[in-house]
Amino acid sequence: MFIRHEAIEKNAILMLVLTLITVSIGGIVQIIPLFTIESTIERVDGVRPYTPLELMGRNIYVREGCYLCHSQQIRPFKDEVERYGHYSLAAESMYDKPFQWGSKRTGPDLARVGGRYSNDWHVQHLTSPRAVVPESVMPAYPFLAERKLEARDIARHLKSLRSVGVPYTDEMIDNAAADLDAQVNPDADPTALLKRYPRAVVGKFNSQAEGVTEMDALVAYLQMLGTLVRISDIPPERLRQ
Ligand code: HEC
Repeated sequence: MFIRHEAIEKNAILMLVLTLITVSIGGIVQIIPLFTIESTIERVDGVRPYTPLELMGRNIYVREGCYLCHSQQIRPFKDEVERYGHYSLAAESMYDKPFQWGSKRTGPDLARVGGRYSNDWHVQHLTSPRAVVPESVMPAYPFLAERKLEARDIARHLKSLRSVGVPYTDEMIDNAAADLDAQVNPDADPTALLKRYPRAVVGKFNSQAEGVTEMDALVAYLQMLGTLVRISDIPPERLRQ
């Protein structure tokens, strides 16, 4: 055995060829299963790409590092399900690029926080967490309510997400700026938006500020988390693990 190995070590070409073969086997074992990854995510009714406003809010969530303290992944354990709601389905984060599952919970899981509090509660909580939850250790984000939302390249943003597999249609991309406005502007007509993005939460999220602020976008995002899928509509046999 060792004598033969000596022959390999002394012959650079043989060593190279055998190394390549070994590395290719390792590579194939890792890569082949990825071709079937599409079929591992079961489609679930209700899951849709983010509206432009939700997407901007999600960007702010990522920018501010909310994921460092908050997970978005309810595990199928009794204590978690009782506290946060039905465990998260893979399909619910299929359009999250990058995903926000998180790995630390200094604060509660946010996967189903949508609709749990009013818009005003969120604005107040983000502006000054201890004003609503005295023992909170969450940082305050008052500047979000003053910063104008910078969304000039929203259409390009949707387009780039489409290139990585999020099914934004041409219509969604063409109307991105209008849809963003329709979700948050009380004078706009949200009919077209709701047709393109069913169950979008419409309203002036940050009622204290004029114009669209970063706070509006972040609260729009928080208010939709976990609201797209009606778990009660899914036949129980499909939910069994
Ligand atoms: C240093 C850790 C930390 C960071 C960073 C953080 N939070 Fe929190 N968050 C907490 C803690 C702790 C709580 C629980 C106490 C409270 O409600 O304030 C909480 C509560 C919340 C709640 C209420 C959840 C519920 O179910 O009651 C929301 C919503 C929330 N955070 C959103 C955010 C967002 C959005 C960001 C980013 C802009 C953020 N948090 C950043 C620690 C954090």
